[in-house]
Amino acid sequence: GSYDMGGHDTYMHKEICEQADAVDRVLRGRIDDRFATVRLGGLNMDAREARGVRRVKILGCGSAYHAGMIGAQMIEELARVPADAEPASEFRYRNPVVDPDTLYIAVSQSGETYDTLAAVQELRRKGARVLGVVNVVGSAIARETDGGVYVHAGPEVCVVSTKCFTNTAVAFALLALHLGRIRDLSVADGRRIVSGLRKLPEQISEILAQEEAIAKLAAEYADARSMMFVGRVRGYPVAREASLKLKEVSYIHAEAYPASELKHGPLALIEPAVPTVAVLPEDELLEKNRATLEEVRARGGRILAVAHAEQEKADHTIVVPRNEVELDPILMGIPLQLLAYHTALALGRDIDKPRNLAKSVTVE
Ligand code: AGP
Repeated sequence: GSYDMGGHDTYMHKEICEQADAVDRVLRGRIDDRFATVRLGGLNMDAREARGVRRVKILGCGSAYHAGMIGAQMIEELARVPADAEPASEFRYRNPVVDPDTLYIAVSQSGETYDTLAAVQELRRKGARVLGVVNVVGSAIARETDGGVYVHAGPEVCVVSTKCFTNTAVAFALLALHLGRIRDLSVADGRRIVSGLRKLPEQISEILAQEEAIAKLAAEYADARSMMFVGRVRGYPVAREASLKLKEVSYIHAEAYPASELKHGPLALIEPAVPTVAVLPEDELLEKNRATLEEVRARGGRILAVAHAEQEKADHTIVVPRNEVELDPILMGIPLQLLAYHTALALGRDIDKPRNLAKSVTVE
């Protein structure tokens, strides 16, 4: 890369630290306080068209897919439209039914990922409406979609995505709020989400200020043979992304499971050399999640929790500030980026250029 490292040792560290500013940028100029919503000029979709959407299907690869999983949950929850995410790479190989009442959304940092671009082209050939949630302005996916939301994360140089993932999740919160307010979301809920969005940059700074403590935790867990990442519903995509981050940059094997699935098999892996990272939003599933921690503990597994308050069932807790629960996935991923970074540092990995990986996969 040719951008200034600004005193950081790696782009990954620089980009993690830039996230408060990056989130500020994705919000800037878009909040509409009067109507408790957001304005997204690039969507090219009027209110009537937006109300006609019966389903949302989100496509992306890797971290973009994980951000899309968060987006699907936000859209379903705030706009009450059935929504789901699927790896773009799978979607395009399975001759999917293309439905005219479905809104398709392609997600990509680079806007050049071949699998995602090919999915967009196939969808458009079949007459679908496709939006882009893209970082690089004017990239192939931005050009070949009917409109969309720019993520405005700024240039991301490290192969491992951090700030763009976070900004993409925020962009989806904006889209979900926008769709919600055109449909059934109340003014009061709109206001609640708007004020939650405004709190994000400062809360991100608060999380980043815990870096030293997180580095210590990373040193403590760096001897793991494998790591298990778990969460329920809102916590699950965060667990998926954190598991990918750790694998990419530290080469420690990691798995991500819905916490509810542990007892259906993966619990067999739990032992002291296989610690569990649990993502625990303070939602209606917190008690169930605590019961899962108990089960892990009973098998001798160490537990690191990410939560809004110290967890007594966990060996360690990274405490993140409270926001609106719908926005929890945005904040809860950030300390786990630092965990992956410091684990890789402790193991002496080539952080900005992990083996076998390229920043964007522009071939089939
Ligand atoms: C993220 O850390 C990865 N290196 C990778 O999964 C990436 O997110 C994926 O290849 C998609 O790239 P894109 O967002 O540029 O389309």
